[in-house]
Amino acid sequence: MSFLDVLKKNKVAGLDIGSFSLKMVELNPKKKGNETSYELVGLGYEPVPYQSIVEGTIMDSTAVVDAMNHIFYESKTKTKKVSFGVSGSSVIVKRIEVQKLTPAEMHEHILWEIRPHIPFNPDEVNLDYQIIESNDIPPDRVGVILTAVKKEKLNEYLNLFSLSDRSASIVDLDSFAILNSVMANYEMYRDKSIAIINIGASITNVVIAKFGVPVFVRDIAFGGNHFTDLIQKELNLKYEKAESVKKGRQVEGVSQAAVKPVLDLILEELKSEVRKTFEFYRSNASDGSIDNILLSGGTANLNQIVDIFSKAFDMPVEIANPFNNIEINSKKFDLEFIKDMAPVFNVAMGLAIRAVGD
Ligand SMILES: Nc1ncnc2c1ncn2[C@@H]1O[C@H](COP(=O)(O)OP(=O)(O)OP(=O)(O)O)[C@@H](O)[C@H]1O
Ligand SMILES: [Mg+2]
Repeated sequence: MSFLDVLKKNKVAGLDIGSFSLKMVELNPKKKGNETSYELVGLGYEPVPYQSIVEGTIMDSTAVVDAMNHIFYESKTKTKKVSFGVSGSSVIVKRIEVQKLTPAEMHEHILWEIRPHIPFNPDEVNLDYQIIESNDIPPDRVGVILTAVKKEKLNEYLNLFSLSDRSASIVDLDSFAILNSVMANYEMYRDKSIAIINIGASITNVVIAKFGVPVFVRDIAFGGNHFTDLIQKELNLKYEKAESVKKGRQVEGVSQAAVKPVLDLILEELKSEVRKTFEFYRSNASDGSIDNILLSGGTANLNQIVDIFSKAFDMPVEIANPFNNIEINSKKFDLEFIKDMAPVFNVAMGLAIRAVGD
């Protein structure tokens, strides 16, 4: 007899604090045998006022806190605890391999081994690591995924929560969140080498994973803003109009013929950044193969981006759908909205999954 079982009563919502918009996902986990499935119980989207967050730095905390309070109010989420993610230049992720020791010796050994891999002063960062055993690691060794986040960056975000009516309970990395989301939503990628590229407004997160564990992570300071900025400059438009033009909408006095070369130019730059990232990964990996690319984030909505990427990288490319495996009650949620906005919720979905699993 199979039965469904609610895992936890203490719910945690996943909140993606992006520079363009906030995204919130709340899930109900259900255990069926060894597998956990998820039901959507809360969803929210809230634009962030222009330039309140610039390249990951909070410039106007009042505006961001207002948006945070509003997203929870609008989505009627009662949950007070929130998991959030960080990314960008204040975050370092490295994967190293160390000799397998007894659990008691392991901690000290890892702390010693990871020191040279952190380019920051150890007092200035929060360190964390995760031990992984994977098919491509020899049995006498273990992989260690090391994460360092600058305390200054964490405090900036924690300060937002102290001013809002929610509290932060889990900090994750945006890049780990997108991987968790893809793994929960696509069984077919659990035994493959995949690159997930989450293209936001100011940051592009790249995660390369094998057998579901991250082998390489890089955050590139590049995103949709670069497209909008160049359109503004080249076509002499205001921000709102440039945003519309970028999304393929008709704007008076602007011809698509004028827009195309501008978009192409920035797309070249984006492809070049991704290519450099792949080359760097391949130069340091024993087997640098990548089977598939999954795209997410708002900028993954760019016209024809799937074709452009599959031609450029000569591999299958698809847009990640973070709701692929999620049970959704169509009486409670607007399925059209979810279908249109799906790739934007990849980080928030991963944060929510991590939260219920923790
Ligand atoms: N249809 C579309 N075509 C092209 N770009 C789009 C489209 N829809 C949204 N975008 C762009 O996606 C970006 C927002 O994506 P997203 O919500 O993933 O960013 P964010 O998480 O808020 O930002 P970041 O993480 O970089 O701080 C904006 O630059 C926006 O203009
Ligand atoms: Mg983002």
